[in-house]
This record gives sequence, C-alpha cells and structure tokens, in this order.
Amino acid sequence: MLTIAVGSDHAGFPLKERIKGFLVSKGYAVLDFGTTSTDSTDYPLFAKEVCLAVQRGEAQRGILVCGTGIGMCITANKFKGIRAALCLNEYMARMSRKHNDANVLCLGDRILGEELALSIVEVWLNTDFEGGRHERRVQLIREVEELKP
Ligand code: RB5
Repeated sequence: MLTIAVGSDHAGFPLKERIKGFLVSKGYAVLDFGTTSTDSTDYPLFAKEVCLAVQRGEAQRGILVCGTGIGMCITANKFKGIRAALCLNEYMARMSRKHNDANVLCLGDRILGEELALSIVEVWLNTDFEGGRHERRVQLIREVEELKP
C-alpha cells in the first residue's frame, strides 16, 4: 500500500484533516507535514516538506491543500521530479494520472465540497499511468528540468 504525504496551509487545514481520515480508512499510510490548525500560515512551507518527502521516496505520492490549490501547485512544480496537478473534478484527477503521471495532487478547500474532494482523491489514487506516448512526454518534462538559462 502506498504512503501518502499530506500538507496544507490554514485555508486547507479542514479538508486536509478529512483527507487524512479518508486515507487511513482506506489503508494508506499517511505522513502529515502540517499545518495543525486554522491559524494563518504560508503554503510554500508545507508544499516544500511534502515534495521533499516524495523526492526522498519516503512517500510515493503527495496531496496538498490550500484555499484554491493554486499556490500549492505553483510551489510543488518547482521541485525536480514532482509533477503536481490541480484538479477540480474526477476527470482531471483521472487524466493527471493516466497522461501526466502526476505524483502530487493539489486541491482547493475553498473551491471543492468535501464529497467531491474525497471522490477526486479516490480516483487519483486508483488510476495508473498509461505510459506509451505519455512516457515520452513525461521524459521531455524531465529534460526541461535540466535546462540551464
Ligand atoms: C490563503 O489566504 C490563500 O491565499 C492560500 O490558501 C492559497 O489559496 C494560495 O494559493
């Protein structure tokens, strides 16, 4: 079973807690990198810890939650080897796995209802990368990561 690293800022804290419970109920191991309350804080701090855990192989996937999911997604995609996808529905979640091999899911607590958010998480965790022509494209992303200005 996969280990999932989770993180949020204050705006994403309530949904992050619900996602944690959902993951545990499905048998996943969860590494929670905070935050621990709705007190105001800064989303890059938590995106950083989750992405480092995925880079180190301590978790196979990461889930990040902020108000919109946008700040988390921008930050996560700065990390080499991280392919973070902001998903607003199950279709985006499915395609981010099948075509993009996304290893970090970003969600917006202020955008999604809880039921939809958990459904997105479930689809995202249960969809495999298709490979084939998509592997070539993911490899091209890896080459972009090596470009020097
Ligand atoms: C916090 O107010 C909000 O800016 C943050 O959670 C997130 O939506 C940023 O992208």
